[in-house]
Amino acid sequence: MRPPSYKAIVEELAAAIRSGAIPAGTRLAAHRELARERRIALATATRVYAELAAMGLVVGEPGRGTFVRVRSGYDGLEPSRALPVPRVADLSFNQPLAPGQAELLRRALRALAASGDVEALLYQHPPGGRRHDRAIVATYLLDRGIDAPPGDVLLTSGTQQALDTVLRALTRPGDVVAADALSYPGIKLLAAAHGLDLAPVPVTAAGPDLDALERICAARRVRAIYAIPTVHNPLGWVLDRERRARLVATARAHDCLIVEDGTYAFLETSPPPPLRTLAPERTCYVAGLSKNVAPGLRFGFAVVPASLAQTVTGSLRAAAWGAPGIVTALATGWMADGTVARLEEDRRADAAARQGIARAALAGLDVTAHPASHAVWLGLEPHQRPDHVAAVLAEEGILVSTAAAFATGRHRPHALRLALGTPPRDELGPALRRLRGALDAIPP
Ligand SMILES: Cc1ncc(COP(=O)(O)O)c(C=O)c1O
Repeated sequence: MRPPSYKAIVEELAAAIRSGAIPAGTRLAAHRELARERRIALATATRVYAELAAMGLVVGEPGRGTFVRVRSGYDGLEPSRALPVPRVADLSFNQPLAPGQAELLRRALRALAASGDVEALLYQHPPGGRRHDRAIVATYLLDRGIDAPPGDVLLTSGTQQALDTVLRALTRPGDVVAADALSYPGIKLLAAAHGLDLAPVPVTAAGPDLDALERICAARRVRAIYAIPTVHNPLGWVLDRERRARLVATARAHDCLIVEDGTYAFLETSPPPPLRTLAPERTCYVAGLSKNVAPGLRFGFAVVPASLAQTVTGSLRAAAWGAPGIVTALATGWMADGTVARLEEDRRADAAARQGIARAALAGLDVTAHPASHAVWLGLEPHQRPDHVAAVLAEEGILVSTAAAFATGRHRPHALRLALGTPPRDELGPALRRLRGALDAIPP
C-alpha cells in the first residue's frame, strides 16, 4: 500500500479536528511518531503540522509538542449566529495579542508557582484587593496622570465589572445616565440590567456636543455622565483640555457623577489630564488590562472618590467579592516589572501599523479613527444598508459590527465599526481589500 500523500493526511486531521473527533487541547503524535505511523518522511510529518498550524487548527509548543488549538475565544458573535462560510477575518471584536505572549504567561506562571508564599493565593482577598496590590495599580496610574491613594482603587474582574459595580452602587433604577449617542456597547447592557435611562448626547468627530449635554442636564435630572475622553470607542477622539474642562463644569453645575472609561487611554502617549484628575470629587475612573495585555485575563479596576469608596466596595462585595488572587498576582506582577508598559508600547506600534494598512486599503472612503487605535469607523453610502452589508460580508467570511451595536439612542447611522486588532497583520490588508470589493459590488 502506498503511503497517503501528505495532503490527504492534512485533510483527514483537519476534518477530525473541525468535527471535534480530536478535541481541543489534545496533544498530537510527535513528528517522529506521525512519520512512523503514516509511513512518511520526518520532513513530511513536519510539513503536515506546519500546514495545520497555518490553518489555525494546531499550535506547536517548543519542547512540549503539537496541540489542537482551543478556539473557543469570544468572537463577538451571538452564540446562535454562525458564519455561513469559513472565517476569513474577524473585524468585529478586538483581541490584540502580541507575538510571544503565551511564553510570557508561561514564564509568569512558573515564577508564581516557585514564589515564596503560594498558599496566600488560596486565601480570600478583601473586597477591592489587598493593599499592596492596590498600591501597585495606583502607582501604574500615575503615568496616566491619576494620583489616587490605594484605598480609592478597587480591583475587579475586568473593566466591565468595574463599570457594573460603580453603576450598581451609585445609581437607582430610573436614573438618567448621559452617554455619547455612539458609545461602548457594554454601557447599553448595563443600563438595561440596572433599569437606567440612557440619554444620548449627539456626537461629532471631535467629541460629544457639549452644548447638547448642557441642555440635557438642564432639562433632566442626570445622575451620571458616562464618558470616554481618551481614544473613544468607537470614534477614536481624544478630547482636548478645553472640552474636558467644559464637561467637568457641566457635571459640577448639575451635580452629576462622571464615569470615565479609560480602557483605551494607554494608546495615547500624552493626553490632557483625565477627568478624574480634573474632578476627583465626582469621577469614577474605570479601566483594565484587556486591551493592553489580554482580554482573557479579566483584570480591571475602579478609582472612586474617597467619599464613595465604602459604598462601591459594598457593591463589589455583593457581586463578586473582588478579583481572583491568581489573576491579581499576574497582573500586578506585570505592572510592577514593566511588562505592561512594554506591551502597551508594542500595542501602540501595532495599532499605528494597522491604521496605516487600513488607510491604504480604504483610501477615499469615509473613515474616522484615532491614528494609533485598533478601530475604524467606516461611514457607508446611503444605498449601503449596514445590516445588509454585514450579511454580505459574512458570506465572504468577514465579520464586522454595525453602528446599531454602538447607538445609545434611536438614531443608527449608516456605518460599520471595523476592529483591526484580531487578524494576523499580514491578513488585514487582503481582508480589508476584500471588504472594499464587496462594498463596491453593492448596486446603488
Ligand atoms: C470602552 C470600553 N470599556 C470597557 C470595555 C470592557 O473591557 P473589559 O474586557 O476590561 O471588561 C471595553 C471592551 O471592549 C471597551 O471598549
